[in-house]
Amino acid sequence: MKIRENLYYVGVNDRVKHRFEGLWHLPHGVSYNSYLIDDEKVALVDTVDVAFFAEYLEKIRAVLGDRPVDYLIINHMEPDHSGALSLIRKYYPEIRLVGNRKTMEMVGGFYGANSEGDIVVADGDALSLGRSTLTFHLAPMLHWPETMVTYDAADGTLFSGDAFGCFGALNGAVMDTAMDYEHYISEMERYFAAILGKFCAPVRTALAKLSALDIRMICSTHGPVWTEAVPRVVDVYRRFSEGVTVPGLVVCYGSMYGNTQRVAEAVAEGAAAAGLRKVIVHNLSVSQPSFVLADIFRYGALAVGGPTYNGGLFPVVEDLLKRLAHREVRGRKLAFFGGYTWSSQAVKTIAAYNGHMKMEMAAEPVEWKQGASADALERGRALGKALAEAVMN
Ligand SMILES: Cc1cc2nc3c(=O)[nH]c(=O)nc-3n(C[C@H](O)[C@H](O)[C@H](O)COP(=O)(O)O)c2cc1C
Ligand SMILES: [Fe+2]
Ligand SMILES: [Fe+2]
Repeated sequence: MKIRENLYYVGVNDRVKHRFEGLWHLPHGVSYNSYLIDDEKVALVDTVDVAFFAEYLEKIRAVLGDRPVDYLIINHMEPDHSGALSLIRKYYPEIRLVGNRKTMEMVGGFYGANSEGDIVVADGDALSLGRSTLTFHLAPMLHWPETMVTYDAADGTLFSGDAFGCFGALNGAVMDTAMDYEHYISEMERYFAAILGKFCAPVRTALAKLSALDIRMICSTHGPVWTEAVPRVVDVYRRFSEGVTVPGLVVCYGSMYGNTQRVAEAVAEGAAAAGLRKVIVHNLSVSQPSFVLADIFRYGALAVGGPTYNGGLFPVVEDLLKRLAHREVRGRKLAFFGGYTWSSQAVKTIAAYNGHMKMEMAAEPVEWKQGASADALERGRALGKALAEAVMN
């Protein structure tokens, strides 16, 4: 598929995988994007998951016929992009790998595929293909140590690796201008929360560094090619990495027999009654973690509730807190609630996790013994009101 003069999309769709990285749900699939620059020299930018090699090779050959590929630019070594590397080497034995020092070390460690002719690049180095000159910009921990982006000044094109990528297979079109891309923006937010949420500081560093480039097109490794939406997707990265949220409350709870759920409903009612229009309730036994995390990145207030369970906190609630403790979500307004029957542990455990999350408490925790009493529900409503007021002001 031609993107513009000399540039082709040769990526593939994966509509079979259930969970990305074995963790994150893929209800709409995912694409592994690779690009072919057909200049005086021919360069491939990243590869695809090895399971799709036959289709991938067919796409490359549809553009090149029997012509060789001179370079393989490696922006990211995660196997969803480097998986086809060894086979590409086999089919194009003269190809020269282009990557930074850390990349080359991983090429050896994963595939034993280093070669004499490989080109090791440093930050700012350039490689001429003829009409285009590519420059390489290291973007460490976006989201691996070797990650870099490749820029083609001739057309203002950024080959960004995973940055600005999203879940969701491509449905016929590749360019943002040829599709309704709203859904992919929300899938980009989910991708960010799941995969880059720990790396907000490296994202901010990379954004500052990339602001020096005139970027008119972003070719990432997952999802659409961005042109008219470039300002929009850069803004998603800016907001999510800086902790800029919109007013809204995410109520996350787990419950076995409905007591915690009743208090969760009361929290939501209290927030709505206080005038907050965006209130989202996630039953953590049902909602998938990446969707919950995306909402927590979007909105300014969070309520967490769970029962005491086997001397600790109900597992699905603790699982969310573990994930949050490893992500940069400091600015949120937080309040929490939980019950017990003989010895209280739930609210204590949530409080201990906030030692890592460092959110700002908007109300005292609501705790109750045994059934969710009228008093507990009333305190739950007050907790929702306090969160709503904290996030609306
Ligand atoms: C498997 C199981 C383990 C529990 N462990 C504890 C516990 O260690 N300490 C405690 O005080 N209550 C414990 N409870 C009681 C729950 O906290 C209580 O049933 C609570 O009302 C459950 O909230 P829910 O109605 O939202 O599920 C346990 C309940 C179950 C079913
Ligand atoms: Fe990755
Ligand atoms: Fe990726």
